[in-house]
Amino acid sequence: MSDYKHWTMHRDASDLIWLGLDRQGASVNTINNEVLNELNGLLHDISQLQGVKGLIIRSLKTSGFIAGADIHAFAHFNDPAQAADFLRKGQAVFSYLEALPIPTIALIDGFCMGGGLELALACDYRIATDSDSTRLGLPEILLGFHPGWGGTVRLPKLIGGFHALSNMILTGASLSAAKAKQLGVIDEVVPMRQLERAALYFIHKAPARHRPTAFQKISNYAWVRQLLAKVMRYSVAKKANILHYPAPYAVIDLWEKEGGFDERAYLKEADSVERLIVQSDTAANLIRAFLLRERLKGFAKESDFKAHHVHVIGAGLMGGDIAAYCALRGLRVTLQDHSTEQMANAYARAHQLFNKKLRKPRLVQAAMDRLIIDPNGDGVASADVIIEAIFENLEAKQSVMSDVEKKAKPSAILATNTSSIPLDDISQAMADPARLVGIHFFNPVAKMELVEVVNSSKTTQEMNQKACAFVNQIGRLPLPVSSSPGFLVNRVLMPYLMECVQLLSEGYSAEVIDEAALSFGMMMGPVELADTVGMDVCLAVALNLTAHFGGAVPEKLKQMVEAGKLGRKSGEGFYRYKNGKPMKAKVKDNHSNDEIANRLILRMVNEAAACLREGVVADADLLDAGMIFGTGFAPFRGGPMHYAKDFGADKLNAMFSRLETQYGERFKADTGL
Ligand code: NAI
Repeated sequence: MSDYKHWTMHRDASDLIWLGLDRQGASVNTINNEVLNELNGLLHDISQLQGVKGLIIRSLKTSGFIAGADIHAFAHFNDPAQAADFLRKGQAVFSYLEALPIPTIALIDGFCMGGGLELALACDYRIATDSDSTRLGLPEILLGFHPGWGGTVRLPKLIGGFHALSNMILTGASLSAAKAKQLGVIDEVVPMRQLERAALYFIHKAPARHRPTAFQKISNYAWVRQLLAKVMRYSVAKKANILHYPAPYAVIDLWEKEGGFDERAYLKEADSVERLIVQSDTAANLIRAFLLRERLKGFAKESDFKAHHVHVIGAGLMGGDIAAYCALRGLRVTLQDHSTEQMANAYARAHQLFNKKLRKPRLVQAAMDRLIIDPNGDGVASADVIIEAIFENLEAKQSVMSDVEKKAKPSAILATNTSSIPLDDISQAMADPARLVGIHFFNPVAKMELVEVVNSSKTTQEMNQKACAFVNQIGRLPLPVSSSPGFLVNRVLMPYLMECVQLLSEGYSAEVIDEAALSFGMMMGPVELADTVGMDVCLAVALNLTAHFGGAVPEKLKQMVEAGKLGRKSGEGFYRYKNGKPMKAKVKDNHSNDEIANRLILRMVNEAAACLREGVVADADLLDAGMIFGTGFAPFRGGPMHYAKDFGADKLNAMFSRLETQYGERFKADTGL
């Protein structure tokens, strides 16, 4: 068996074959061509053996069962034929496994996703551990395609098409072992220590294989499929535009037409995935976004820093929420402010967050116990990370940081959450300016995935790497940027928001503008986004940026702040809010959509090019990552720089010059383009 690099095979005394996957050179098991080829060879060997009583497949890694097909493989397919080969090979190997005349079992501990679950579905039985880390799912839809190794055929066969699509394939959601058992995806849930014994039981007793319940089965009849497909399309359409996200529609079509379970269904499944991967840019761009996310996480790998205690100074909107979020993620947190009222408010908000996210009273209480109110700042001396989040004032921040530096442990991260003050200005007041790093969270902290890790001209690489490791530790994506005004995300976002205010001043309605941006694929329209960020914050950032880079702040924005219409938080901004939701009128006429979208997006592209030229961020991919994860820039378009590249240089230049002639200087294409 030594010929196999990723798999091990062992025949025990009772003639059971144990296949273990331990993909070499990777911390998690994923399936690539080599892994498939080896599995194919092994299955062939096993089929030739005499007297074998059963086959048990498991992972030899502690990180989980199988995370899915190797996404890097998808990203490197140069021509459609390679993608088709990979799909057909996976299908063939799993069909081979399914056809073995001996009982086959997948033992699942930890994640079992995508191609990993499709492999398990080709086994006769699936047994999973009851561990919290055991999760089963088919997340392909989130990457712009759908399962292609038999998942769209075997899962509906097992639990009925309606449950298969609505619980797993269309949502991409991952299920706990208990939920998967309830649906019938797995046969048994046991504690880890009983996993092998359970496998032996299934081999020896050979219980009947799972069949869908009568209710689940109904959805497999052709006429029911037709009806349900309509309902599913209707509900998908509320969330995903078919032009931007074709995969959910493709899988509904597939199921409606091919819901039969013969060979043809497998062929059609592979054809459909091939089309999604080859003919539309969506899958390529979503896969790219997935890999960009991995790249951001990779910044954390340079340091083995691990925080146990975080001290936050300033219990306002940001400081309070940062403290609560860190406590939610299991860290001990001390929170300091000179206003008792602010600390009490922050504590109450934290309680709401814990209730919402943790639900169980025992867990909520434990999180509350981790969050400690610390008016005197005693926590500074023992904290591993100290985050300053007081109001935006240079002298005040200098005074806090020079004081903190004297009391903190030498190994502690000293961070500021400032959104506009240059780090070099703050660190001037410190004995060792190299210790200051920016850890810039976005509002709302518990929702925004991206965190900018800001370097001053003096920040050490070690401090930056430790900060990235900390950000990753709390489940956020670190993006290293340099300390120039607005850093990256706010700087690129602001021209987009300013153009939106300009459009409003020209008489376009908020709804029409938002609709144009949503049709382009943005997660949220700019008007609603400006209301969410808050007019006062937008104005402060805009004033800061125009002071450095020139340009004008629209009068309308100043008027809104003067009138106290600050956005969602004050109940009225460009929209009025009811129960926290904007009251929007229905858009009837949206013929100006393209021009509005062009104006909004090209301003963003232009600023992005300037940031790249100035080296605010290391490269165009990271810039795109920042805008996708920091602002919800249409992920299926791959980020602003990728979009500009796709648009084509000539077309882009022509568009800029037309807009410049029509609307003025602000559309002058940056030399970086
Ligand atoms: P805020 O005004 O809501 O809170 C500031 C808090 O700091 C107040 O509770 C105040 O009592 C406290 N404070 C002031 N001086 C202090 C001192 N010397 N010691 C202890 N506490 C002190 O401000 P917000 O919005 O939370 O902003 C805080 C920082 O975060 C600022 O630097 C801001 O630029 C940055 N930021 C703000 C974002 C936002 O959306 N509001 C987003 C990202 C960063």
